[in-house]
Amino acid sequence: MKKLHAAITGVEGYVPEHVLTNEDLSKIVDTSDEWITTRTGIKERRIMREGASSDMALHAVKGLLEKTNTNPLDIELVILATVTPDYPFPSTANVLCDKAGMTNAWGYDLIAACSGFIYGISTGAQFIETGRYKKVIVVGVDKMTSILDYQDRTTCVIFGDGGGAVLLEPNEEGLGIQDFILRSDGAGRAYLVQPGGGSLNPASIETVENRMHYVKQEGKQVFKFAVTNMAEVSAEIMEKNKLTSDDVAWLVPHQANLRIIDATADRMGITKDKVMINIQKYGNTTAGTLPLCLWDYEAQLKKGDNIILSAFGGGFTWGAVYLKWAYNS
Ligand code: UT7
Repeated sequence: MKKLHAAITGVEGYVPEHVLTNEDLSKIVDTSDEWITTRTGIKERRIMREGASSDMALHAVKGLLEKTNTNPLDIELVILATVTPDYPFPSTANVLCDKAGMTNAWGYDLIAACSGFIYGISTGAQFIETGRYKKVIVVGVDKMTSILDYQDRTTCVIFGDGGGAVLLEPNEEGLGIQDFILRSDGAGRAYLVQPGGGSLNPASIETVENRMHYVKQEGKQVFKFAVTNMAEVSAEIMEKNKLTSDDVAWLVPHQANLRIIDATADRMGITKDKVMINIQKYGNTTAGTLPLCLWDYEAQLKKGDNIILSAFGGGFTWGAVYLKWAYNS
């Protein structure tokens, strides 16, 4: 029997309609379009005014099922990466399965912050490669505005809401996920964390008064680790798979900061025209960035394209996935 690979056979994204520009933010906190653009590359981001992460995921999954002509009842597993679940429990994957009519599926949430989508597809791929499942959905989605402090200019300008979903199916032509390298370092929690609301600091008047339910980030420290580790792991997966920069059709980097994206592409020897970038319109949607990139660029992808996805985020978590694109759209 031929080796089974897990291939992405469809992708769909969703971003809320409401746009928050840098100009809008400069009326809320002491910031400017110039600062945000030059430091991050972000011009605007989308804001979800009503609803939860599962609602954005539902939009993406509905579109995905439609475009891949898939019956929701045929989905066997849903892995949903997020740091902004609807509830601490039940999982947002469970909520999504109910809302989308995927009633034969089981599912779970995966917390790996900005690396959630690459952790998710690497995990989902195992169920396909072993032959156990034929249809797995992986979602990366975050409603970051639900944990943003609009009094903290160092974080509220960076993030936005959105996400996307992919369908993983078996492929016998050698296309699909070829390799992954995933890493973590929990010491990174000192620099990027939502301190309140978990078992360490359950919600209380104090946690609310101390603004502990919001994202806290030491940007400079995170930047240092992100630049080094995202670039290194992306170069490492190329070396491991004997890929030259000419062999790589696309780099799909986590969209946290244009300067981190540029450093990663430089380290890989990849020219800018082969780098997916949409940070200017969505900001950092945490687990949502990579599926949103694939969605935006889907029409340009060709069957057989070598693609490297790479990410770095809270945890710290980071890694890279090497895949061969499986279809022409
Ligand atoms: O996706 C998860 C992983 N996260 C990341 O990868 C984010 C990594 N970090 C970064 O992208 C960058 O560190 C930031 C974009 C968050 C910040 O950029 P920076 O160049 O590292 O700026 P900084 O934190 O060193 O701040 C420089 C100055 C400070 O002022 P002083 O101390 O020099 O007077 C900040 O107070 O910029 C100030 N500042 C701002 N000014 C205007 C910080 N935020 C703002 C703001 N508008 N929004």
